[in-house]
Amino acid sequence: MKSFDLPPSAALLLLALPLLAACAGQPRPTAPAAAAEPQQPATPASPAPPRDVHSFARPDEVAVEHLKLDLTVDFNARQLAGRASLRIANKTGADRLYLDTRGLDIRKVTLDDGATEAAFTLGDEVEFLGRPLEVRITPATRWVSIDYTTRPDAAALQWLTPAQAGSPSPFLYTQSQAILARTWVPCQDSPGVRMTYEATVRVPRGLMAVMSAENPTAKTADGVYTFKMPQRIPSYLLALAAGDLEFRALGANSGVYALPTVVERAAWELADTPKMIAAAEKLYGPYKWGRYDILILPASYPFGGMENPRLTFATPTILAGDRSLVALVAHELAHSWSGNLVTNATWNDFWLNEGFTTYFEGRIMEAVYGRPYFDMLAVLGRQDLEDVLKELGPDTADTHLYLSLAGRDPDEGMTDVAYEKGALFVRSVEQTVGRERFDKFLRTYFDTFAFQSIDTTKFVQYLNAQLLAGKPELAEKIQLDRWIYGPGVPATAPEVRSEAFTQVGQALEALKAGTPASQLQTTGWTTHHWLHFLRNLPKPLDTARMADLDAAFRFSESGNSEILSAWLMDVIEARYQPAYPALERFLTTVGRRKFLKPLYTELAKSPEGAEMALRIYEQARPGYHSVSQNTIDEILDWQG
Ligand code: BES
Ligand code: ZN
Repeated sequence: MKSFDLPPSAALLLLALPLLAACAGQPRPTAPAAAAEPQQPATPASPAPPRDVHSFARPDEVAVEHLKLDLTVDFNARQLAGRASLRIANKTGADRLYLDTRGLDIRKVTLDDGATEAAFTLGDEVEFLGRPLEVRITPATRWVSIDYTTRPDAAALQWLTPAQAGSPSPFLYTQSQAILARTWVPCQDSPGVRMTYEATVRVPRGLMAVMSAENPTAKTADGVYTFKMPQRIPSYLLALAAGDLEFRALGANSGVYALPTVVERAAWELADTPKMIAAAEKLYGPYKWGRYDILILPASYPFGGMENPRLTFATPTILAGDRSLVALVAHELAHSWSGNLVTNATWNDFWLNEGFTTYFEGRIMEAVYGRPYFDMLAVLGRQDLEDVLKELGPDTADTHLYLSLAGRDPDEGMTDVAYEKGALFVRSVEQTVGRERFDKFLRTYFDTFAFQSIDTTKFVQYLNAQLLAGKPELAEKIQLDRWIYGPGVPATAPEVRSEAFTQVGQALEALKAGTPASQLQTTGWTTHHWLHFLRNLPKPLDTARMADLDAAFRFSESGNSEILSAWLMDVIEARYQPAYPALERFLTTVGRRKFLKPLYTELAKSPEGAEMALRIYEQARPGYHSVSQNTIDEILDWQG
């Protein structure tokens, strides 16, 4: 934890907050009950969808409809303790309820009145999946209550000391996607199951608790908070955070929560959120979740953002000081339709969440900031896709949109393929049928499957029925099967180009021809110009060239996390030692996996780099969330 006690660095403006501181799948021949009959008979009857191989639950027999949580947050013991009461619908007269758990200590299980004890057993531990909790019920049982505690190493939870949180108080947050909800709540942890929830959460006085639900905007005197989520959500959207939080309104229906030292800056940075909401609603219909708020987490947060309903969780590394990284908000907001309303039924269908959301994100950005801005994002995204195809191998199954993740941690399949190939596919459909028709289709899609889960087969049937029926020439052009069940990117993919990046290309050419950095034409460049520049620097770069670039543009001191991390990739490749302190500072203060993974991977390519990586990681690791730890452990072959 030492690493998070580093003094705040003026160089890292982004952290001007001192936050640095901080089988399963035994296949059963049953069909899961993915919540969902489509409301429109337009959808042809489909065969029973494949069951979720990442859950022990049997929602086709007994489905959890509502969750009532009563939890006490104990920072000293790093423990959540309390009761989860589940209201169930027994569809088949079953005498057992199966729940997912991982690392939970179950004290007692009671039925209905909460006093009648029930027999229960915990099955054997399965890697990634945890242990099935089997509870004896009767066909008449309506409520099952589980008294339990979490362990200090619960994978969804990150417990931060005040130093790590960059706050006088400790901080706790959860990250449930994909299958980590079961590490803090016993539940049917499958995206094909939906429930409403309510909660009472007790935190130390002086802290505020917030959830993916209706939230407070001020602290209570006694540290007790109550929450309600009246809309049905899948378990991966269960979320809780507690810390010294303050709220600022951004618009009538949106606001931001952050530490007092961060909240003003956050409110300034995110000021366009109401415009984004308006743009999104104009595209695909009313926002259905009431409020849209954003919680800025400490810098160890492992993701850019997480679309927890009503309250997006976001990394502070988007606070660049110039609003240039807010596409992330457009993305998480877009999930309020694609993902949270219409949900991937299993993690094999992950692209339905992320591909559509990345497409929708682009549409919001285009509407609010204009086509040239979107074009830059699209080119950068296309490059991310090329990179991941190279990493995975262009013909491998993990480059299909529809994945096959049985027996694996679903986290492994969650690559840029789902996002960028997914979005490219959606754009290719849009271009084939025309934007106007496609927008109508998408709007109806979100309405038709709202508050339901959908798998790839059902989606393909729906798309065929709604858009392609009787139009073989369109179907021929789109090549659904090739995109969804095949590798790589079909040659018919839409082209992406950015006029704005022509300038960057010219500067790169000039650089290659020997022009000193200070004489390059870079006036008016935005974050995205710089990213394109840094990703495409001529190789190899010698020390003098790197020094010249850094002297001219001060990349090593950038307060923009995207620019700094892109530069640090070049630093590692060029073994440019004067920037190693900046690299070390970044790796020990930021926990966002998207940044950490490529940097550690690049370091691990040389023996000296690997040695340095291990030295830094030893310090930094205690400050990372478990999902980042798992990824970096593997890259560095960390034995702990
Ligand atoms: N839902 C994802 C984050 C996620 C995916 C968490 C899979 C756990 C498993 C979120 O919407 C997301 O995609 N976040 C991105 C940012 C976005 C702008 C691409 C991220 O965190 O980098
Ligand atoms: Zn997403």
